[in-house]
Amino acid sequence: MKTTFLLNGETVTAETSETETLLDWLRLTQNLTGTKEGCNEGDCGACTVMVQDVQGIRALNACILFMPQVAGKAIRTVEGIRGDNGALHPVQQQMVDKHGSQCGFCTPGFIASMATAHAIGATDFNDRLAGNLCRCTGYAPIIRAAEAAADAPVPAWVASDRAALDTLIGSPELPTSSDALAAILTEQPDTRIIAGGTDVGLWVTKQMRDLGPVVFLHACEDLKQIDITDTEMRVGAGVSVETLREAIAPHYPSFAEMLRRYGSTQVRSAATIGGNIANGSPIGDSPPALIALDAQLHMRKGDTRRTIPLEDFFIEYGKQDRAAGEFVEAINIPLGADGLKVYKISKRFDQDISALCGAFNISVNDGKVTAARIAFGGMAGTPKRATHVEVALIGAPWTMETIEAATDAWAQDFTPLSDMRASAEYRLDVARNLLTRYFAESQGTTTSVLEVQP
Ligand SMILES: Cc1cc2nc3c(=O)[nH]c(=O)nc-3n(C[C@H](O)[C@H](O)[C@H](O)COP(=O)(O)OP(=O)(O)OC[C@H]3O[C@@H](n4cnc5c(N)ncnc54)[C@H](O)[C@@H]3O)c2cc1C
Ligand code: FES
Ligand code: FES
Repeated sequence: MKTTFLLNGETVTAETSETETLLDWLRLTQNLTGTKEGCNEGDCGACTVMVQDVQGIRALNACILFMPQVAGKAIRTVEGIRGDNGALHPVQQQMVDKHGSQCGFCTPGFIASMATAHAIGATDFNDRLAGNLCRCTGYAPIIRAAEAAADAPVPAWVASDRAALDTLIGSPELPTSSDALAAILTEQPDTRIIAGGTDVGLWVTKQMRDLGPVVFLHACEDLKQIDITDTEMRVGAGVSVETLREAIAPHYPSFAEMLRRYGSTQVRSAATIGGNIANGSPIGDSPPALIALDAQLHMRKGDTRRTIPLEDFFIEYGKQDRAAGEFVEAINIPLGADGLKVYKISKRFDQDISALCGAFNISVNDGKVTAARIAFGGMAGTPKRATHVEVALIGAPWTMETIEAATDAWAQDFTPLSDMRASAEYRLDVARNLLTRYFAESQGTTTSVLEVQP
């Protein structure tokens, strides 16, 4: 497949297989070895590159980015982040001045993330760098360097990359609308959809799987739309988790805060909401919140569309309500649920898969529970509602006694597994405790998983 894009300011056309990664192509064919291979699975950020398209600038992990995904975009590797005349980029200079530059393995990735944050004026450096791991030294000098560079002018090549994009034709082979995608999938229903590639990428880099026929949906602009009315938000399947996080924040801050802990900036900027649902994972982070909100899923096969409650999509472990050739087109999220709280429990605060993730959407009127939707990931083979707990709460006074009276209902809803992330007992205990936490917060107590309170 031919892919045309800007590489460090120059237009290039690469002819590769559909599943060759950008990292391999850079290192093996271009001798651009500044971009490093660490984990090769999206975890360490050593392979971070800066990616610009008409929607903006993002840091992405090149190790799980397939070549067709960069069509029509501008890529800057660490070799192209310094100025033309060899002058250091402001973040590079500050890494030197603040002693933030460490080994040659992690530093290029840090530089790519920092230069991206600098280009878009982002200053939430802890979040921006959570996907760049250094296991040897401290982060403080690196954060100081990012802070010190923040006010320096953005290099001219950022704007010139943006201007050059307008004349690029990335790849005529990619579908550019959901109609075109539907036609391809009707023609060949066993075609594997690749959205962000943050799951599928690992099937290639870690499992060495031959994916068979594939189709990419990232160029389908209509799948990347978010439409908001007074009552709901319609989110296209191709919207990235990072874009959803920003859009949902004014409506459901607790949901957005949980998404801040979904992978890293690089992972969230690639992963799509459609992929996070369609992969059917029992520990995907967005389904519990979306089920608690009673979100509706729009499915499409050819010209036939249907809408189902999201919770009905997950049938059992590894089995979803999706026919061959059918795809997720969008999801509708009802707005206006005042009481939504979402809690992610993982061993590490940043960039870790959930042991469990619980979402509570409880309405209380005149001291009584009038409605409750509670959904969990990590507690069963699918994301699942706690219907027995809901029944125990609805109609009862909103008190600690009611919450204690619901204790036994949790085991009727869930028989979780023990695995490397948590034991079954721990999962059940924590799920119960999260309802107590929700109650405490509803009474005005502030809780934080980053603090230990007596
Ligand atoms: C380092 C790392 C950290 C991660 N951290 C988290 C985390 O904290 N929380 C979390 O929930 N997940 C996490 N993930 C998992 C991953 O990011 C998500 O599952 C992601 O949402 C998948 O979306 P994608 O667009 O990348 O999907 P892809 O990898 O492109 O596809 C995943 C699956 O969904 C199918 N698919 C994609 N889009 C559609 C569609 N529109 N219709 C039908 N089928 C479709 C594909 O065919 C494939 O089977 C992490 C992954 C990595 C690599
Ligand atoms: S090599 Fe570790 S994230 Fe890519
Ligand atoms: S990984 Fe680079 S200094 Fe630790």
